[in-house]
Amino acid sequence: MRRLFPVTDETAAPGPGEGVADRAGREWSLDELAAAYAYPEPGPEGPAPWLRANMVSTLDGAAQHDGRSQPISSAADMRIFGTLRALADVVVVGAETVRREGYRPARARAEFAATREAAGQTPAPAIAVITASLDLDFSLPLFTSPLVPTLILTGASAAPDRLAAAERAGARVLAAGDGVGVDPARAVQALAGLGHTRLLTEGGPRLLGQLVAAGVLDELCLTVSPMLTAGGAQRIAGGPAVPVPQRFGLVSMLEEDGFLFTRYARA
Ligand SMILES: NC(=O)c1ccc[n+]([C@@H]2O[C@H](COP(=O)([O-])OP(=O)(O)OC[C@H]3O[C@@H](n4cnc5c(N)ncnc54)[C@H](OP(=O)(O)O)[C@@H]3O)[C@@H](O)[C@H]2O)c1
Repeated sequence: MRRLFPVTDETAAPGPGEGVADRAGREWSLDELAAAYAYPEPGPEGPAPWLRANMVSTLDGAAQHDGRSQPISSAADMRIFGTLRALADVVVVGAETVRREGYRPARARAEFAATREAAGQTPAPAIAVITASLDLDFSLPLFTSPLVPTLILTGASAAPDRLAAAERAGARVLAAGDGVGVDPARAVQALAGLGHTRLLTEGGPRLLGQLVAAGVLDELCLTVSPMLTAGGAQRIAGGPAVPVPQRFGLVSMLEEDGFLFTRYARA
């Protein structure tokens, strides 16, 4: 792994007798990755919600292959994925990604235990599922045996029998919309109301598009996967286009094995 931006000594050309591989080959420790992806420090008014998305895309813009993101990911991408989870209070995810990717509860990792405790965080982030239908298998470990209760964010008029099933399984249900659906800004506020301000969303594209359209996305951690897939796969954000393109600024870019790990924040 090497840092391409901001440019440092590590980015510079190799010295005499040193191959590019010497610089490119070192695996970063989890502490180094955590430092590279630290959430912003709270301002004088205390912690405010910061919503970061972590997504992977091929060179031609596909957000999945054969219905999953794993084929376009890499070991380093999964290491960053795990680090971003370890920094977050909560992982916000659309129900279709939960169904297709077979989401499990986030696990507590010994490497991050001390820093999470010092930051006042639970041993693992909660998973917060955004759903209107609540068409989820509540017998899965995501609901029955997480370290931290899984959250369901839905609309106020969600089906009462599905709400009851979610709660029976141990999930905590939050209403964040007046109809069946969730209002993205209200979802952020509902999570902040529980003390969750370090927010991470893992998509999918239909959810991310709504977060973008609602103007609540602060940061995008985008992995550019050096692959071409063609076909009709979704892009990382879908739904109706925003009226004016939103400008983000490059914060950092890492590289390993041809994968680019970019970090952009709202400009
Ligand atoms: N490349 C990547 O980084 C990445 C990341 C994540 C996922 N993916 C891929 O993306 C695909 C799934 O993504 P997707 O875009 O189809 O689905 P998604 O965004 O994960 O989930 C869509 C579902 O979320 C719920 N939802 C979304 N907005 C809502 C709102 N405002 N109110 C209430 N519920 C809402 C609905 O659930 P209900 O139907 O239950 O009502 C909706 O059907 C998978 O193939 C996955 O592999 C790729």
